[in-house]
Amino acid sequence: MSDSLFRKKSIEKIVADSEAGLSDGHGDGGLRKVLGVRDLTFMGIAAVIGAGIFSTIGTAAFNGGPGIVFLFMITAVTCGFSALCYAEFASRVPIAGSAYTYAYVSFGELVAWIIGWALILEYAIGNIVVAISWSGYFNNLLEGFHIGLPGWLATNAGNAQVGYDEAVKALASGQTIETLTKNAKMGYDAILHAPVIAGWKMIINLPALIIVFLITILAYIGIKESKKSTNFMVIFKICVIIFVIIIGFFYVDTKNWDPFLPNGFGGVLAGVSAVFYAYIGFDAISTTAEECKNPQRDLPRGMIYSLLICTVLYILIALVLTGMVHYSELKVDDPLAYVFEKLHLNKIGYLISVSAVVATTSVLLVFQLGQPRIWMSMSRDGLLPKRFAKVHPKFHTPSFATIVTGFMVGIPALFVSSGTVTDLTSIGTLFAFVLVCFGVLVLPKVTKTKGGGAFQLPYINGKYFIPLVVGITAFLFRGRIVDAFFNFSSEGYQEFLFLVFMLISIVTAVKSFINSYSVIPVIGALSCLYLMIEIPAISWLWFFAWMGLGLVIYFLYGRKQSKLAAE
Ligand code: ALA
Repeated sequence: MSDSLFRKKSIEKIVADSEAGLSDGHGDGGLRKVLGVRDLTFMGIAAVIGAGIFSTIGTAAFNGGPGIVFLFMITAVTCGFSALCYAEFASRVPIAGSAYTYAYVSFGELVAWIIGWALILEYAIGNIVVAISWSGYFNNLLEGFHIGLPGWLATNAGNAQVGYDEAVKALASGQTIETLTKNAKMGYDAILHAPVIAGWKMIINLPALIIVFLITILAYIGIKESKKSTNFMVIFKICVIIFVIIIGFFYVDTKNWDPFLPNGFGGVLAGVSAVFYAYIGFDAISTTAEECKNPQRDLPRGMIYSLLICTVLYILIALVLTGMVHYSELKVDDPLAYVFEKLHLNKIGYLISVSAVVATTSVLLVFQLGQPRIWMSMSRDGLLPKRFAKVHPKFHTPSFATIVTGFMVGIPALFVSSGTVTDLTSIGTLFAFVLVCFGVLVLPKVTKTKGGGAFQLPYINGKYFIPLVVGITAFLFRGRIVDAFFNFSSEGYQEFLFLVFMLISIVTAVKSFINSYSVIPVIGALSCLYLMIEIPAISWLWFFAWMGLGLVIYFLYGRKQSKLAAE
């Protein structure tokens, strides 16, 4: 019996266990292998293009100005490097579980658990944001038919209060109800008219709950049904986005791009969380490894193709968006629809709202598929109760885990407001990316050539390059480093995180020099780390609290129940 916190599973054992799991009394062979490279690419796009580009990008563009496009490029490179590392793992460890399983073979059980726990932030918590955003766009659609829901049924208490305060101020300054912004109107209506139950003002986001439950049913019924719906939704949203880019291009006024960086690079970096959030999702397809016809060949391709397509679309959209109106007008929840409505192109604005509903539905679906499959892997390893690995005999999906995911996303979506949750999702995902990138470095070397078109990460010797990049970074940020040492209290936690980042970078540079580490995983990990430290303090506190809770559960349950504990 191994007692080490870092007990590892070998790749061979993981694959063998998963094959055994397929005939483990779960009907006729467990999950269904129906996904090809096209489906995976579509699933990647389905998971990526959603609330980020249709909603959270608005505030990021408001803070960063047109220069936000740089952040889209930087983030694309960061995600691209991480995607290549995911791809390497996906072709070496072709089973469900994604970064959790990858960490199990690279760093051992404790880190695997931590990653599995962090992935809940990406998929389940991330989906809360998507559901809230879905609800916002859905209400827009309803309003188009003059069927607005009462405010108390379509928002949460936090947002309602913000809207109410805004409304009170606006009304005091002589505005009328008709001229209030959408959020202010909804908040005002919610606070004034919410029914009171046992002293509690009932303000809930009902559409968010309903869509999560509907999507959960689809995810429960089957991967084939999910695949077909995904393909349809992706084709629709891509057509609309290309259409929007082409039409928007004719309305670009280049004067809006001046100044390009109104708040300097600091303003751009304030959008890290939102922009990174927009890219999240390509990795989710790695959770479907056991439903792929040829995971070793197709998963890496699916991830890389979907990321490339989304990057091109995002950069074009960011340019069009900030070119059509002045960036200072973009602090709205539905920036894409807003710019077209502002230019009196209401029909296009409406089409965008329809597309946003479809796009966010597809994100919901892929994340709602991903989370249960990670739990299934954790359960097979003994780290979660057995029920999480149960595969439905008829539908061939992880049934119990799918239902739990539905509740875990749907119930908070009723009450929570999305800001902090977006940050949390971004931290959790970046954390997973960092470990996957570093994990590639400690993977056992491949001894024989992989077959079946499997993916292999190109090796670029970083012996000199990595120390050079870290050296240049330290030089460029020398002022910040000195400041962080001597004026430690001025910026508090963020400067502390920056020092930690520099320290990790220097240690990695030294190790790269000694061990000739490959450039892609190292630069991928360090750039994700850098993006992480730009996320605000309050989200870090939540993140640590969440991880602390995860550790308590591991030590009380997983550590003893782990299959490796019995070996
Ligand atoms: N990238 C996904 C979205 O923007 C999470 O909705």
